[in-house]
Amino acid sequence: MAKDIMIEVGAVIDKRAIKSRIAEIAPDIIGIRRIIHRRPELSGREFGTARLVRDTLNAWGIPAQYHLDKTAVSAKIVGGKGPTVVLRADMDALPIQEENNIPFASITAGVMHACGHDMHTAILLGAAKILHESKGFFKGTVLCLFQPSEESEPGGALGLIKAGVFPAKAAAVFGLHVSADHKCGHIGIKPGSDYAGALNFDITITGRGGHGATPEKAVDPITCAASVITQLQTLISREKPAAEPAVLTIGRVQAGTKRNIIPDTAVMKGTLRSYSDELQDMLMRRVKESTAATAKAFGASANVTFEKSYPSGYNSPELADRFRERMKAFLGDGCVVDRTAPTMYAEDFARYQQLVPGLYVYLGVVPHNKKRIEEIHSPRFLPDEGAVETGIAAHVVFALDALGGELI
Ligand code: NI
Repeated sequence: MAKDIMIEVGAVIDKRAIKSRIAEIAPDIIGIRRIIHRRPELSGREFGTARLVRDTLNAWGIPAQYHLDKTAVSAKIVGGKGPTVVLRADMDALPIQEENNIPFASITAGVMHACGHDMHTAILLGAAKILHESKGFFKGTVLCLFQPSEESEPGGALGLIKAGVFPAKAAAVFGLHVSADHKCGHIGIKPGSDYAGALNFDITITGRGGHGATPEKAVDPITCAASVITQLQTLISREKPAAEPAVLTIGRVQAGTKRNIIPDTAVMKGTLRSYSDELQDMLMRRVKESTAATAKAFGASANVTFEKSYPSGYNSPELADRFRERMKAFLGDGCVVDRTAPTMYAEDFARYQQLVPGLYVYLGVVPHNKKRIEEIHSPRFLPDEGAVETGIAAHVVFALDALGGELI
């Protein structure tokens, strides 16, 4: 047991003991990560992963329970009376066919852990083990949340909040995401706004179908759609303040069946991302107005619908500052990289950050002998598993600091 190697001085823990314990358990945690990687499960169907998480925690003597139809797991580690801090990992995979040639490649056709949630899940298991062994050294409760369905709206975070599993009175919430922006062993931090608020939108342009040889007798929704796509980009380049980030992407366009048939309709699907509600409202209004006006100019009509996706994220500057200092003291000055620009990814961790102060950080997974690796959501995404130790350290350092366990 770890306690044998820890030097107990009140609530002070020898950081070397924690570090060596993390290194000791890392091979097992990597083994768990590989099991999860091999058997990825799509959003809302994380039954096998949740079972593995619950059974592993229970086998380690950490009481764990299911939520959300057995797709989510929570585990409480109580170190006496005190505040509650939440550590969160997401568990779902993506509808992607894996192209990595590795012994533990996905055995489920068309499904892959291409966003590193297998890493997140295994890392939080490792952190739970270390914190369970260290619970004599902090005052309060660590709630480990293994969340389903981050990749699919409305997201598992909302489910856990609605079910009352996420404690609205928690002192803080912490999470991490693997990142191809940083080297293995590094943690990226962006205080303040990070992760955009996302709006999904669907546009249907309705014209009048006909023969491709006689466009004058038809109203071509495809030409109209092409113009709408171009016009919408001017909202970003001409109508929003240059200093405020926002992106508009149309990722899907569907129309027509054959080269000489003008179809009746063209359908587009897009995403609109920004950090402020005001800017989001303005862009939403202008997408509607601009699309309607363009369609009218073509003699067509447009139907635009919006669906709110995840809110924008906000990292507490105080938590970020404390965490930066504690991580530097734990792993050395070079382990923390300050990020200046926020990311345009969206992440349902932001829902927790709307309720309690939170911090969401980037876990570098680029091997030291490589300049870059394929990005997340690529069929060839392959993180360096060495990052497991840094990830466990991040969770443990955050939780101990929040609950008065001092590392020296
Ligand atoms: Ni992800």
